[in-house]
Amino acid sequence: MSYDGYVRRYRSRTKKSSKLYFRSAKVFPGGISHNIRFFEPYPFFVNGARGRTLHDVDGNNYTDYWMGHWAMILGHSPAPIASALARQAKNGTLYGVVNDVSVELAETIQKMMPRAEMMRFCSTGSEATMYAVRLARGKTGRRVIAKAIGGWHGFNTTLMQTVNYPFEAEEGPGLVQDEGQYVESIPFNNLDASLKVLETIKDDLACVIIEPVLGGAGCIPPAEGYLEGLQEFAKKNGALFILDEIVTGFRLSPRGAQHVYGLEPDLFTLGKICGGGMPIGVVCGDKDVMALSDPVSKTDKDARCAIGGGTFSANPATMAAGLATLQFLKKNERQVYGKIDRLGATARKGLSKLFADAKIPCTVTGTNSVFLTHFGKEALVENATDVATSDKGVLAKYHLALMAQHGIFFLPTKMGAISYAHGEQDVKNLLSATEKIVQSGLFKA
Ligand SMILES: Cc1ncc(COP(=O)(O)O)c(C=O)c1O
Repeated sequence: MSYDGYVRRYRSRTKKSSKLYFRSAKVFPGGISHNIRFFEPYPFFVNGARGRTLHDVDGNNYTDYWMGHWAMILGHSPAPIASALARQAKNGTLYGVVNDVSVELAETIQKMMPRAEMMRFCSTGSEATMYAVRLARGKTGRRVIAKAIGGWHGFNTTLMQTVNYPFEAEEGPGLVQDEGQYVESIPFNNLDASLKVLETIKDDLACVIIEPVLGGAGCIPPAEGYLEGLQEFAKKNGALFILDEIVTGFRLSPRGAQHVYGLEPDLFTLGKICGGGMPIGVVCGDKDVMALSDPVSKTDKDARCAIGGGTFSANPATMAAGLATLQFLKKNERQVYGKIDRLGATARKGLSKLFADAKIPCTVTGTNSVFLTHFGKEALVENATDVATSDKGVLAKYHLALMAQHGIFFLPTKMGAISYAHGEQDVKNLLSATEKIVQSGLFKA
């Protein structure tokens, strides 16, 4: 089937969504509240989600591989988290003063990730990374932040640099050019080139902040020695090494990517999974650095790093959902990670073979339970530029075809994630649907 054929089918199955999108576009710029949630011809509107399935307003069901921006590691509305939330909803969702469950969640995080000597909860990952780099500047008295080209740390102004291809260009009006002058970007997975850049700024380098696996930029695991090399440079030169584990924390392992890759970040950020489907961000790490933000002992404002606001920070609903999620992951570590990692490997291997057999040039990247196909690329895909110069148009068409004809949802062009609610049959279905799409001629059109 041609792409137009899949689009026609999508439109015919999503009439109510089409009407809702029309209304939505009148109240939200672009019809959405998170930019990446728009896709052509218009997104379907969801009114329910259970397990691995999204339900839309037209009565369609989709096996979900987007899983709430990769946050829903146990699936949608898993029983232990749903009941923890329901209990909390009856007992107050925002006290606006300290609560006991936040201490329990923090202690649980600390047990799972002992480098989280102290932490602060906030409501989004964007806040957590903003706080992390502010702490690094506060601690070192330096100004420059190094990040990876294409690295995504959320929409805070400081880190909204070199996110979109071509990465040197301005990120758009409203961001003052000068804001970028203290942010330097390094090429992910090229240690020599990265160190060369860092060498030129080392005297004013406050931190290197990096995702262990590039997520938003295209599901790219680190080359051996790359992250270790950055960490070594930072520590040797008096800068902080900050790992952005907002995606990888509790996904690559219950102890995060830092455990998998043997890293010792000074600070790291968490989010997504540890909120149990509720809004969260966490900045955590070395207690000496975190202590800079202590408003109790540091009564002198000039000595204190200004982080730690947020009406909804550490709200008991998020805390309860996050705690129930981490407790489940701790208790069922082998089953959960054994399963999602195995299914992830099966998906990567199956898709690679299927496209190779069909002589469709592409590379499937990923690790553990995350994966993404890059069309038009047969060589290694190892950084954000490789991803950005792959054929994203074909990827978007493939994802739309999965949605329209086979009830399988990837947010078009974005990395897929397996949850504990997925099963072997889902991956088989993904592979057989992909095979049918290949046979339908979409990739030739
Ligand atoms: C690595 C990384 N850091 C930070 C963020 C920002 O988190 P949030 O969307 O909760 O602000 C994201 C979001 O996808 C992310 O992937």
